[in-house]
Amino acid sequence: MHPAPRAKLPPMQRDIERILIDRDAIARRVRELAEQITREYSRPGATELELTLVPILTGSIIFVADLIRHLPLRMKIRVVSVSSYPGASTASKGAKLTSELDMLGESLAGSHVLVLDDILDSGQTLTLVCGLLRGKKPASLKSCVLLRKQRPEAMAFPVDYVCFDIPDDFVVGYGLDYNDYYRNLPDVVTLRREVLTR
Ligand code: IMP
Ligand code: MG
Repeated sequence: MHPAPRAKLPPMQRDIERILIDRDAIARRVRELAEQITREYSRPGATELELTLVPILTGSIIFVADLIRHLPLRMKIRVVSVSSYPGASTASKGAKLTSELDMLGESLAGSHVLVLDDILDSGQTLTLVCGLLRGKKPASLKSCVLLRKQRPEAMAFPVDYVCFDIPDDFVVGYGLDYNDYYRNLPDVVTLRREVLTR
């Protein structure tokens, strides 16, 4: 089958330069990672761990929605919201906590906490959120990302679970945005240069 000519594609699809990771590859890898996490957080015969997942909004929503349906573990979910790319920007302006939503004042003592984000780039977001969570004295604290960019800061960051290492390019789709758009694309893609500069 020949791909549709660009002009015939719906507007959002026209902006795609190329598919970096397609939906089937994502689904397979997310399932595999869920099996690993399940093994590592299950203690056969022992009492269940108190597990709290902390998704970082907004980019992690699709990843987390898919991942947790393959985690047969008893868990709570507590979201935090962090922004680092104000408006139409592809470079972090420094991670800023925009809300803790339902986490305010809550103790995490005794809970095993797993933080989830869409992508590890400069590491500022995870540094900020993990610092905040460490202050709530969890029993353990681990982090998990869908994507990690192959740049020195990201590769040196002590993250516990990574689905895919990708080139140091700006990507969207499967939850990741540019100027808040494209999150609903089912694949992880790069955008055409004209889209990023217009
Ligand atoms: P860091 O704080 O620099 O590690 O960046 C992490 C945050 O920046 C992620 O939660 C994303 O929201 C955003 N981000 C980093 N790289 C990209 C990208 O290529 N596309 C879309 N968002 C990105
Ligand atoms: Mg984000």
